[in-house]
Amino acid sequence: MYRTRTCGELRLADINQTVTLAGWVQRIRKMGGMTFIDLRDRYGITQLAFTQGTTAFDQANNLGREYVLQVTGKVIERQSKNPQLPTGEIEIEVESLNVLNPALTPPFTIENDTDGGDDIRMRYRYLDLRRECVRKNLELRHKMAFEVRRYLDEQGFLEVETPVLVNSTPEGARDFVVPSRMNPGTFYALPQSPQTLKQLLMVSGFDRYFQIAKCFRDEDLRADRQPEFTQIDCEMSFVEQEDILNMFEGMTRHLFKTILNIDLPQLPRMTWADAMKYYGSDKPDTRFEMTFVELHDLFHKAEEQKPENERFSVFANAAYIGGICAKGQAVYTRKQLDALTDFVRRPQVGAKGMVYARVEQDGTVKSSVDKFYTQEVLQQMAQTMKAEKGDLILILSGDDAMKTRKQLSELRLEMARQMGLRDPKKFSCLWVVDFPMYEWSDEEQRLMAMHHPFTSPKPEDIPLLDTDPASVRANAYDMVINGVEVGGGSIRIHDALLQEKIFEVLGFTPEQAQTKFGFLMNAFKYGAPPHGGLAYGLDRVVSLFAGLDSIRDCIAFPKNNQGKDVMLGAPSVIDQIQLDELQISVRQENK
Ligand code: AMO
Repeated sequence: MYRTRTCGELRLADINQTVTLAGWVQRIRKMGGMTFIDLRDRYGITQLAFTQGTTAFDQANNLGREYVLQVTGKVIERQSKNPQLPTGEIEIEVESLNVLNPALTPPFTIENDTDGGDDIRMRYRYLDLRRECVRKNLELRHKMAFEVRRYLDEQGFLEVETPVLVNSTPEGARDFVVPSRMNPGTFYALPQSPQTLKQLLMVSGFDRYFQIAKCFRDEDLRADRQPEFTQIDCEMSFVEQEDILNMFEGMTRHLFKTILNIDLPQLPRMTWADAMKYYGSDKPDTRFEMTFVELHDLFHKAEEQKPENERFSVFANAAYIGGICAKGQAVYTRKQLDALTDFVRRPQVGAKGMVYARVEQDGTVKSSVDKFYTQEVLQQMAQTMKAEKGDLILILSGDDAMKTRKQLSELRLEMARQMGLRDPKKFSCLWVVDFPMYEWSDEEQRLMAMHHPFTSPKPEDIPLLDTDPASVRANAYDMVINGVEVGGGSIRIHDALLQEKIFEVLGFTPEQAQTKFGFLMNAFKYGAPPHGGLAYGLDRVVSLFAGLDSIRDCIAFPKNNQGKDVMLGAPSVIDQIQLDELQISVRQENK
């Protein structure tokens, strides 16, 4: 037996027992006649004590950090206890020591507060994973996946695996492709999600399906995006939207209760239209208020009453003017306000400028547009914004309402960050419902499916498909937590004719639709039940529960911002022989 106990479990009650432990050397302290070693394994840290004059003492003085040891000794009470450590009241008086493996000095310290930068830790990720703070995230991930399985199993869901070598799936990102040696010149695509396959499982009568599934999307990376990520993918038959929302609200509640011991209130629902109007985002962070107030009518009326040469052209010509009220922030200095203006002007945000106003202690409103508006107009503005003494008002305007709202959304989030309102320990969850079916793509110059082309329109909006498709709403919903889209789904179309119509609006010819999705449309001809579902991003949910800034930290071996695994050296060039077998030629300059 390598060990009788672990490094995390010994307490005062174990005094005088002889135990064998195994683990890694975290720290060595030589103190004259005594040497102390902190021995670490997954479960914790135990202090080992070596006394001068013993063989073990001599051995201990020749060890290095991260050596792998096996020690046997007696559990004794410590003289100076360490209240920070669960095992801090005891230590092991070592009788024998066996070096199971020596180790090179690691390139960074294996401590929560490490001296290793991002790059080096990624290169040696297996060492990074030894750090408690990183390991804890993976333990949490395991626990959450386990509770998901427990909940869904109790609700009668079957876990079914779907293949990874498939064809293009319709989630709208670029595919990762894999060449087929046996069928030269052809490629598999890795699934962006198991969407079509889970719908086929409904046609097969599986009724309730789930899978903790790897998905692959070749898109630009961000803190909450990885090229390969994990979905909790679910589908149900004979259900309406309400059934799905209730089932998965239940799952979310179960996770909050079992993992964080938080009782979630019933989740509010917000229409997509309201989310855009009040938050400028389809994933509003509702931990705090600061909702948008539209000021277009107020300022336009004021402009109309002025002679032309006194007009504030920025507002006079704007299609949208909206503001947020930052409570108690009239103390912001000119310098801070200039920095906020710079923030909204960054290309990532894209606003032209920002107007601000402070409500002073005497009730007057002082603004950056004082010369264009009377105090009366400014007072009306403050009233509309429900601004009180000491509040700060920030206003953006623009000629494209949707774009301006998105810019104001960025400003709202930044302001909230500066005010400390984005507390990772506070949770605010909601459903965003009634998404539009389509969104206009400037790039493609056509309407694109906002969710995916199998999403059902709201029955009452079906007539609009012919007259005004852009205004058709879908039976589609997202779950949002703290401004992060953690999941999304929809009721699907199960009627082949309606599906054909949707493809037509999306600009597919019947032949193109048949080539791409014929297998699904044909399957629907054999009796498809009404069905719907959703998928959660497991990485995102775990990182929220762990209070992390990036999903990378809850993935064992993540990719970096360039989509690379620097530890494995992936992606990499492959041998000419392999290329020849696949009948692929690679341009010389890419090699
Ligand atoms: P959707 O594309 O909205 O829906 O994805 C579902 C959820 O997956 C997570 N997610 C990601 N997480 C990390 N990195 C990424 N690159 C990434 N992309 C998406 C998000 C998102 O909410 N088949 C549909 C679901 C359905 O209709 O049932 C789908 O994939 O948390």
